[in-house]
Amino acid sequence: MHNVDELIDQATGAQRRVIYADPAIYEQELERIFGRCWLFLAHESQIPKPGDFFRTYMGEDEVVVVRQDDRSIEVFLNTCTHRGNRLTRADRGNARAFSCNYHGWAFGIDGSLATVPLEREVYFNEIDKDQFRLVPVDNVASYRGLIFGCFDKDAPSLEDYLGDMRWYLDTALDAMPEGTELIGATQKVVLHTNWKLPVENVCGDGYHLGWSHAGAMKATQSGDLSGFTVGNTGVDLEGGMSVAGLNGNSVLASLDGVSGYAFYPEPALALKYLTENRAKVVARLGKFRGEKLWGSQLNLTIFPSLQFLPGLNWFRVYHPKGPGQIEMWTWAIVEKNMPDELKQQILDNVLLTFGPAGLFDNDDGDNLASCTSQSRGWRTRQMPVYTNMALGRSGQRAGLPGDIASGIVSEHNQRYFYRRWQEHMQAKDWSEVPQYNLNPLEAKDEQRTVQAA
Ligand code: FES
Ligand SMILES: [Fe+2]
Repeated sequence: MHNVDELIDQATGAQRRVIYADPAIYEQELERIFGRCWLFLAHESQIPKPGDFFRTYMGEDEVVVVRQDDRSIEVFLNTCTHRGNRLTRADRGNARAFSCNYHGWAFGIDGSLATVPLEREVYFNEIDKDQFRLVPVDNVASYRGLIFGCFDKDAPSLEDYLGDMRWYLDTALDAMPEGTELIGATQKVVLHTNWKLPVENVCGDGYHLGWSHAGAMKATQSGDLSGFTVGNTGVDLEGGMSVAGLNGNSVLASLDGVSGYAFYPEPALALKYLTENRAKVVARLGKFRGEKLWGSQLNLTIFPSLQFLPGLNWFRVYHPKGPGQIEMWTWAIVEKNMPDELKQQILDNVLLTFGPAGLFDNDDGDNLASCTSQSRGWRTRQMPVYTNMALGRSGQRAGLPGDIASGIVSEHNQRYFYRRWQEHMQAKDWSEVPQYNLNPLEAKDEQRTVQAA
């Protein structure tokens, strides 16, 4: 067994490569990270009506998220309580009951065991149906349309888990009173990578953009991205920021208010929408978020496995499938009040840039798979790799929560991601997991509450 203290060195930004390859470490992650943290399940827009359901994963546990008759949301293990067959095989749909394919037990959408074939003849009416209800996920809550579940009864509330990250999230989720929705089918890709590598790539790695994605950027870029140039020949560090120190959650942000749409071959429609709605958003969210963040390229990461990029507008969750494989699920996220023509253009652009045929995703997938397979070598996995760029150069900025490094080319956010990973892996339970919101918001600053789901 590895000593977790030695796997990450926060002082130097080093990670031991064994964390990307070792099955025992992966098993510990299932227990201490995916078994403990709040995990994204579905967007409320995906299950609007009673009986609507969505099948997904929490770590490697398959769950089904179901809208109830009273509009609340319940989440159950998607497993039959008789002999353990998978319950629903549909990805999503609407149901009045879930029937098991194996022997025909049927469960209500509230998880109750409704009918048992031959109940009188072979169970002699003695079966205690309450004992065989579907197994519920203990904690379910929503934040601005995003439904999360958590297996650990001792976890902090979703509100505390997100902490001051909510201030940044609201730029994407609450700019408009109508909120957001996910559109398009679930785009599923199996990638041969350890789950941490795509998360660290998106949470903070602006460094690879001009190099890995030079071709994709040339093909799609129609605007500036904080003075960022293809080929890594220059970057404007004042034009962006890397924000971390928010309980493992992080933000990578350009600060120009339009660069989210820099990678659209035809951005005119999106830019018109931004211009027409800017004043309204400033009135809701204030000048900094309304002018500098809304419309900018943002990378938002909720630890451990949810990421979305307003502007490019993809929304993604990673499901681990062993130490060297993931299923990556992607949708397009849009503001509900956007014109239909713009929503369609956003969905088309997500397909062009990310997802199974996306220009950017294909660049990344190859690199991430290679970083993973390289880590399997007996000698290679003993060596460290580093995220030491701009180490020690972060600080606090008045009115902005978190510990902030300048620019989007920095490895600041990755270091905090691995710090959070190590904190969870070291802790026996939630009482040992430190909570931190560096440079917390003042009480006068608006914070939104979490709805009970
Ligand atoms: S395993 Fe589901 S009814 Fe038997
Ligand atoms: Fe990338």
